[in-house]
Amino acid sequence: MSAVMKNDQRSIEELIASQKPGHSLDQRFYTDPAIYELEVEKIVNRNWILAGHVSQLAEPGDFTVLDVGKESAIIVRGKDGSLNGFANVCRHRGSLVCLERQGHTDKLVCPYHGWMYDIDGNLIAARNMHEDFDKTAHGLKPVSVGEIHGLILVCFDDNPPSLAGAIRDLEEPMGMYDFENLKVVAQKSYAIPANWKLMIENYQECYHCATSHPEYALMHTMMLDDEKRERASTHMYENMEACGIKDICIDHVDSAARPGEIGYGFARTAMFSKYKTGSKDGQPVAPLLGSITGYDGGQADLSFGPFSFLLAYNDHVVCYVFTPVDHNNSNCEIYWLVRSDAKEGKDYDVDALTWLWDITTQADKEIIVNNSKGVHSKYYEPGPFSGMEDLEQIYIEWILAELQRS
Ligand code: FES
Ligand SMILES: [Fe+2]
Repeated sequence: MSAVMKNDQRSIEELIASQKPGHSLDQRFYTDPAIYELEVEKIVNRNWILAGHVSQLAEPGDFTVLDVGKESAIIVRGKDGSLNGFANVCRHRGSLVCLERQGHTDKLVCPYHGWMYDIDGNLIAARNMHEDFDKTAHGLKPVSVGEIHGLILVCFDDNPPSLAGAIRDLEEPMGMYDFENLKVVAQKSYAIPANWKLMIENYQECYHCATSHPEYALMHTMMLDDEKRERASTHMYENMEACGIKDICIDHVDSAARPGEIGYGFARTAMFSKYKTGSKDGQPVAPLLGSITGYDGGQADLSFGPFSFLLAYNDHVVCYVFTPVDHNNSNCEIYWLVRSDAKEGKDYDVDALTWLWDITTQADKEIIVNNSKGVHSKYYEPGPFSGMEDLEQIYIEWILAELQRS
């Protein structure tokens, strides 16, 4: 097997056709730069990726930058209040224009030769250019920007998947948490030296939770089998309605399969009964969100396309964004949000708020890197999925289907 892998000359089509059902991917999907390039073309640059929350871009001139593989987008609140997205590529000789990750500015100035753009992307100054130089033809190139109830998304395709279904179907569940009026109070980046799929596959399964996440395993019920989870959920179902929470489930698997539309989902699961939220002692770490009036011990999972996943507790929201850097390096970006009128020090403490998903992500980083090292070995061979890795299996099947789509 190892000798075959080492000199594997099969085409990508042959490789996909030979993928053993119910098994992890062939080594080349994690190591071959040519497959990565195809993934970028067919998956990464065709789909929406979460770039932040409207609270981060409240005023004209507020900007944030999203880097994904070779692409970089500047998302800036324009003069008329609309959200603008631009390729972070200077129209002179191509330098990155914006080197800061987030901030506020009234113009974007390229650090190389000083070409200056306004926050609507127009080139407003370029020194010593010929008389016939047309500034109007050299504005920043647009990048697709969208919004789903306060969440800002970017797509590096001029014809991105529709957001209409997600906006419509998620209005009620996201309304319970008043997503539009949250604010980001912490953001951290985790550089993960592994192929992006290993990182997202890890997020898709909780087979590893019992062995790798003792803190998470104390409070979340995801590693239980269906029957036990149902029993552990009684307290949540009994209290949901009294807390103002509707029992809504939107199946993300179906919606992800809808062509031309962003995949999306919303589902709630119970935490163990001692836990009100995802905190060290299970006690609240911030004021209740939106119209929620109490703690029913539940937690919602949301997904937006293939790279962005959220957890909504009754008092805070955690956003996960997984993006590739290159074929062997990735980034995990986490945002923590609370209600917009919450005051730091009085209503929430950032260390207490970020504790669970920071230690969980550090542990995930370690296991993903170990996974990556083994996957690069000549002894690696695709192995069988357990009954707790269904979502991961669906995810990789979706990837294989997308790679074959024209
Ligand atoms: S590359 Fe931007 S001003 Fe020259
Ligand atoms: Fe994990």
